[in-house]
Amino acid sequence: MMRKSMITAAAFATAAVFALAGCSGSSDRGGDTASSDAASGFEAGSTIGVALPDKTSENWTIAGQIFTDDIEGAGYKADVQYAGSTSPVPDQQAQISAMIEGGAKVIVIGANDAKQLGAQLADAKAQGVSIIAYDRLLSDTSDVDYYVAFNNFKVGQDQGQALLDGLAAQFPGQTTYNVELIAGAATDPNATVFFDGAMDVLKPKIDDGTLKIVSGQSTFEQVQTDKWDPANAQSRMDTVLQGSYTGDTNINGILSPNDTLARAALQSVSDAKKGPVVITGQDSEAASIPLILSGAQYMTIYKDTRKLVAQTVDMINQLAAGDEADTNTTENNGSVDVPTFYLDPVVVTKDNAVEVYSDDPKLGPLVK
Ligand code: BGC
Repeated sequence: MMRKSMITAAAFATAAVFALAGCSGSSDRGGDTASSDAASGFEAGSTIGVALPDKTSENWTIAGQIFTDDIEGAGYKADVQYAGSTSPVPDQQAQISAMIEGGAKVIVIGANDAKQLGAQLADAKAQGVSIIAYDRLLSDTSDVDYYVAFNNFKVGQDQGQALLDGLAAQFPGQTTYNVELIAGAATDPNATVFFDGAMDVLKPKIDDGTLKIVSGQSTFEQVQTDKWDPANAQSRMDTVLQGSYTGDTNINGILSPNDTLARAALQSVSDAKKGPVVITGQDSEAASIPLILSGAQYMTIYKDTRKLVAQTVDMINQLAAGDEADTNTTENNGSVDVPTFYLDPVVVTKDNAVEVYSDDPKLGPLVK
């Protein structure tokens, strides 16, 4: 707490110095390279926009309030908006335009469709607004300043490895396993990153016959879930189980990219009277914690939203001070290498759930 307020105070002090430097004229700095948007800094009380997607999972549902609290706690004005589920893309386009219009200095974006905000981002850039892509990278644009996320390729690799580990543990002595794959929404660039990360681990085991995808559906296009909607995943899984798992053919494992879809797939397996399955997840949703503790869901990933928001607000403070924000890597978005800050995702199974969640005010009580 103390550290944060000291940083914030320092950020504003530096921002004030920059503002003064601006007033006294900077023509004597003629030899300097052109200042970036970030280098001009901005003042306490400035508006920070946060455009979040529709609430397809709990991490998004809780992010809004945490953003509001942390941004206001750091001394800015927060304008936090969610896209609705009916027409999320036009919603986000309109919300971002309104934030630019309202004078936001930084806009943090968790995109619904990462490729459909180009005009708004270009407009933001033209107005000197800094753009931070949050959790989901903004694709195919140079108008994005920073990306902050948990390392999503690593999330996918961890899910793939956990599926293998879980199968070996649950079916000792078995050398081949029947599995199915589920991916997220094609409009979310994370969905392909999770899938590619998982396939990085699973593909050799598919190629050597250890894993058999009985439905034959193995490409991202075949297994993606429109809108991350659990009803879509469940109905595809119902069809797969009815069509490919007849008679004695059983299903042993499912790669699921998150907890919401894992719960839907488990329902489908139970309805089809198949299983037990080893299934992966992500997000550490409250509704999945009992399933993790009982082993019904083999694993999930903990991406503490409080930490991701705190890192984003650190970036905002650095931009306010006229500094570049801290990053630890870059990520290519199809157009440019975006300066990126990655946090490490944490793998959770029933073996470490108590330890991992005990400090989390929402999840701690669920594992006591
Ligand atoms: C997030 C996941 C989430 C999914 C669906 C992704 O972009 O990274 O944590 O489960 O969206 O909401």
